[in-house]
Parts: sequence; C-alpha cells; structure tokens
Amino acid sequence: MFDFLPTNPSDKAATYAELAEAVSAITTGESDRIANMANCAALIDAFVGDLNWSGFYRVVDGELVLGPFVGRPACIRIPFGKGVCGTSVSEKRTMLVDDVHAFPGHIACDSASRSELVVPIMKDGEVVAIIDLDSPSPARFDAEDQAGIEAVAAILAERF
Ligand code: SME
Repeated sequence: MFDFLPTNPSDKAATYAELAEAVSAITTGESDRIANMANCAALIDAFVGDLNWSGFYRVVDGELVLGPFVGRPACIRIPFGKGVCGTSVSEKRTMLVDDVHAFPGHIACDSASRSELVVPIMKDGEVVAIIDLDSPSPARFDAEDQAGIEAVAAILAERF
C-alpha cells in the first residue's frame, strides 16, 4: 500500500523522488486545482521536514491570493513584486532565502519563519500559482530542496 509517507526521511534524494511520485499519483485524473493543491500541501508537509508552513498562493486578478496550506493562518493577498512570494512572481523564478530577516520587504506571516523557499508554477510562460515553504531554521533549504519542489511544481503545472 502507498501510505504517502517517506520510506527513509534521512535519504533526501529518495524522499524527493517519493514526493514527486506521490504528487503525480494523487493528482492524476483530477482537474480540480484546489483539491490538488490541498493534497500537495499535505504531502509536502509529510515529506519535507523542519517546516512551519507549506502551501500555495494563486494568481487571481493580478495579485496573489492565499490557497491551500498546512500551518498557521497567513496573509491573504500579496501584490506582485512584494515579499518573497510576490518577487517570485514578478521575476518568474524560484526564490531561496537563507535568512528572511535579511530579505528586503519580507512579509512575516508566522514569526517563527527564518528561511523560505518559493517556487513558481508556470503555465504557458506565466505564473499561475506559487508553492511556499517556510522553516523555523535558518538556511534550511538547499539546491536539492529547490530541485525537489520545482519537480512538484512541474507536475502540478500539467494539472492547471
Ligand atoms: N513570507 C512570505 C509571505 C507568505 S507566508 O510566508 C506564508 C513573503 O514574504 O512573501
């Protein structure tokens, strides 16, 4: 049985491969974006350790609007170009921030957050949503985490 938990959490490469497999399996044949984002937020929380927030913001009418997440309640609307999330949209790229306190304009939704990884979901050259991971540990995320979450974003882009 596929129980949607990592087999060996200390093996990062294997865990991200399992996460991608789980995201693909749970979203295959389902076109409802909210349902897919909700399940993916739960999967990321289960597979990626040391997080205090994992979830989505969606592009709606020219701004980011909060989507499904695991964590404490968060700010609802983020303008393009603002904070780590809005910068990811305006620059159409992944943002890996080792120290959120050193990021100009960082939006503090949860005061526990110390580092952040934001990955855009791209469809036809435009950002349609972003995946946001927050950690209470400084410099929690590295290139392997970035590649792992970018793989999740690529799978979800096919469902949008
Ligand atoms: N820190 C983000 C805001 C979203 S919360 O982390 C959930 C930012 O600076 O855009």
